[in-house]
Amino acid sequence: KHEEIWLTISVGMLVLFMVIVGYQTFALGMGPPSNKETLDPQKVDQTAPFDNPGVFEVGPNEYEVVMVLQVFSFTPNNIEIPKGATVHFTMTSKDVVHGFQVAGTNLNAMVMPGYIQKITQKFDKPGEYLVLCNEYCGAGHQMMSTTITVK
Ligand code: CUA
Repeated sequence: KHEEIWLTISVGMLVLFMVIVGYQTFALGMGPPSNKETLDPQKVDQTAPFDNPGVFEVGPNEYEVVMVLQVFSFTPNNIEIPKGATVHFTMTSKDVVHGFQVAGTNLNAMVMPGYIQKITQKFDKPGEYLVLCNEYCGAGHQMMSTTITVK
């Protein structure tokens, strides 16, 4: 009888553990990004705003950067913005999963084909910021970089 009780308890613990892990996976956003805006990755060039990537002034020292990532580059690249600018990045990938990491800031985002990634950053310090892809995306991954110049 004791054995049956212990067996029931261990099975119960195991089920509970699996439920917790499953819940965390979704609740913490590690699962599929079901709450993000989507688009057809085959039609990035024809889908607004990505049909016109670039840097756009949207307010007083406030900019939107519409950016497309592809193997192995960022479009637009070598961006320049004024000191103190608030920049809203709107990004997607044309092909595989890429990363968008800006050295010297907290900016670090995964950019996936079929999804729109939005992230905002204020650039108070002038300088040249190195932008790196931090998701392995193929043979040219190490070369995938650009800069953001703040002046
Ligand atoms: Cu793109 Cu690594």
